[in-house]
Amino acid sequence: MSFLTIENLSAFYGKAQALHDVSLKVSEGEIVAIVGANGAGKSTLLDSVMALTKTTGVIRLGDAVLTGRNSSEIVRLGVGYAPERFNLFPYMSVRDNLLVGAYTAREDIARNLDMVHKLFPRLEEREHQETSTQSGGERQMVSLGRALMTSPRVLLVDEPTIGLAPKVCLEIADVLRRLRTEFGATIVITEQNANFALSLAERLYVLESGHVTATGTVDELRDDVRLAEAYFGH
Ligand SMILES: Nc1ncnc2c1ncn2[C@@H]1O[C@H](COP(=O)(O)OP(=O)(O)O)[C@@H](O)[C@H]1O
Ligand SMILES: [Mg+2]
Repeated sequence: MSFLTIENLSAFYGKAQALHDVSLKVSEGEIVAIVGANGAGKSTLLDSVMALTKTTGVIRLGDAVLTGRNSSEIVRLGVGYAPERFNLFPYMSVRDNLLVGAYTAREDIARNLDMVHKLFPRLEEREHQETSTQSGGERQMVSLGRALMTSPRVLLVDEPTIGLAPKVCLEIADVLRRLRTEFGATIVITEQNANFALSLAERLYVLESGHVTATGTVDELRDDVRLAEAYFGH
């Protein structure tokens, strides 16, 4: 049974249509990647799940219909979001940025904080540091950690590797893998970096100009020309 279901999702910015009839399914415990070039609609897709855009179509999480609800209800129903531009509070400490994410936590805040510190020991070591003084990789970790503080049933991560050095990308991939294996997380990531997506996800969707043009397992899509096009752009 699929867990997160998106059916015929279209998204609009005024009269401009950014997504066209996008359908996708994510099963519980799976890592799915949405791969596409800059401007393909990756952020719009995740923003749409969070009710941050104007859409048509239906989005469900388990038995709950997300469509028509506001963002905070969607967080409460179990969708965690680490957006592309982080939106951290730069002059607040790492710890306080994490606790901001806990305002809707249904479960024990201390337990979530413990999980975040297990995944990112550096965030515990530097819990009093302002995020404005952190590296891009550390800020990505705070952003992921903050999303985890909401006790998500599914975690949406927008371009986790953007602007990060290869070594830091490996660290992020490792944490996302551990989230699945150790904590049973269900994860949707978007990526321009097809190699990163291939190394992490079980299944991929290729997004081109707001359309899903290919979908399949990593093995099925590894040599797909559409994936290469999505990777290199047009
Ligand atoms: N706030 C916005 N207003 C108008 N157009 C937007 C806005 N955000 C994104 N777009 C347009 O929607 C399309 C998809 O953008 P986006 O979802 O950001 O792509 P990606 O995340 O894959 O780079 C692009 O054509 C972009 O210019
Ligand atoms: Mg984007």
